[in-house]
Amino acid sequence: MMALLLCFGLSLLVAVQPSAVKNCHPGCHCEVESFGLFDSFSLTRVDCRGLGPSTTMPITIPLDTAHLDLSSNNMGPLSDTMLAGPGYTTLVSLDLSSNHITKISPNALSKLRYLETLDLSHNNLERLSPGCFSGLPLVEVDLSHNSFQEFDMDIFASKINGEPVSVDLSNNKLVSVSMNLHGRVLHIQSLNLSANRLSSVLKLEGLPLRYLNLDGNPITQIKEGAFAQLKDLVYLSISGLQELQDMEPYSFKGLQSLQVLDLLNNPKLKTLSPAVFSGLESLQELNLSGSGVASLPKTMLSHLPSIKSITVGRSIHCWRTQKQGQFHRQLGQAQNNEVLNCNIEGIVL
Ligand SMILES: *[C@@H]1O[C@H](CO)[C@@H](O)[C@H](O)[C@H]1NC(C)=O
Ligand SMILES: *[C@@H]1O[C@H](CO)[C@@H](O)[C@H](O)[C@H]1NC(C)=O
Repeated sequence: MMALLLCFGLSLLVAVQPSAVKNCHPGCHCEVESFGLFDSFSLTRVDCRGLGPSTTMPITIPLDTAHLDLSSNNMGPLSDTMLAGPGYTTLVSLDLSSNHITKISPNALSKLRYLETLDLSHNNLERLSPGCFSGLPLVEVDLSHNSFQEFDMDIFASKINGEPVSVDLSNNKLVSVSMNLHGRVLHIQSLNLSANRLSSVLKLEGLPLRYLNLDGNPITQIKEGAFAQLKDLVYLSISGLQELQDMEPYSFKGLQSLQVLDLLNNPKLKTLSPAVFSGLESLQELNLSGSGVASLPKTMLSHLPSIKSITVGRSIHCWRTQKQGQFHRQLGQAQNNEVLNCNIEGIVL
């Protein structure tokens, strides 16, 4: 009886009605999901993947579409009209991956006033025009597998009278940054730039990022303070960098919230000075698996007060432990009774 009631209750909460959705393009699959007691909330999900040649954009979609998948449609350069029309203004997420997109015209996305998630991965983008994401409440942007050689925060900058406001960050004038801080841009939390052609770490000052992925870019060196001002960042991945040889001391300066750092599969990265990790107050997990680093400097711990686990090589795992039977009375040595313990001897030098 109880189970029956529960079942009934659940069916009240979620009901999917795939049939007969108005304005659904014949090649698409449209679905309305209803939520809440008496289906008081609903959202429309439209899947128009791989519609085949001779499809003209914009594709007709239901009026209140929230999620739209337009991936694998060979769209080419995005014009101002391809994503405009009834149904597009309500989009919360849009998948434009694998579309051979080479260019995005400055106002192509401007109608998507509620867009939070944008997937532009697996396209041929080299740059985006200034202000092209301006005014969109984007939280998550995937730009992986494109051809970006540089990446400019200008794309998030606000436009005034339709003209992009140029933001000069070359000399780090805080005035310019704060203009962005007051814009509507500042929802962006996740940025994926993996598998592009970036040769150095881009300047991302002023963005409230929590997740950043720079994997598989031809970055050769990480400079002091490369990530400074990304004080909200929780997860950073800089893995699979075939050319990365050097990380300067204080490379991660300012990443005060970072909890997980992935430095996987960087074969040319052989040595690390302890000061590289200076400033990573919150770091809990460091993964150097598959990188050229074979040993860890002993004094590393003093820079990583929150670390719980470090992975080196294929299966070498290290964790923080209390040194047994040693007690330092001396003031200022309180931390010295903690040591890094690994499942293989000789890793910590
Ligand atoms: C970022 O892109 C890479 C490569 O496409 C992918 O493996 C990873 O899951 C992506 N991360 C997120 C959060 O989308
Ligand atoms: C480190 O990365 C490797 C490779 O992705 C993975 O197998 C391992 O579980 C990771 N270590 C931890 C502690 O997450």
